[in-house]
Amino acid sequence: LAKVEVDLSSIPEGKNVIIKWRGKPVFIRHRTQSEIDEANAVDVKSLRDPQADSDRVKKPEWLVMLGVCTHLGCVPIGEAGDYGGWFCPCHGSHYDISGRARRGPAPLNLEVPSYEFAEETKLVIG
Ligand code: FES
Repeated sequence: LAKVEVDLSSIPEGKNVIIKWRGKPVFIRHRTQSEIDEANAVDVKSLRDPQADSDRVKKPEWLVMLGVCTHLGCVPIGEAGDYGGWFCPCHGSHYDISGRARRGPAPLNLEVPSYEFAEETKLVIG
């Protein structure tokens, strides 16, 4: 399937879901306001892959990204690691609440796939 639809109304604030798209996991997180604030408080220049949170999301409360570690492709674990986001257990990469690489061998931020909001609560990935 080239595109996948996700009903966002079933994902409460503060929760992650993982869906499959083109054989890969896609992480969707319904971020809280404090998580959004935290993502925006980071000094972008300090990042190894400098990217503002606002350049990674279309709506701040919805973080959508491929669940594929940019080191060697393992699937990171959610709500884990030292930066309040994801942790890859394979070699210890930490990602923040925007999915940006913060510590460990991952060279890049988790990739954001192309997606759009078809309706207020409907996400279309692909
Ligand atoms: Fe994730 Fe190596 S594959 S840290």
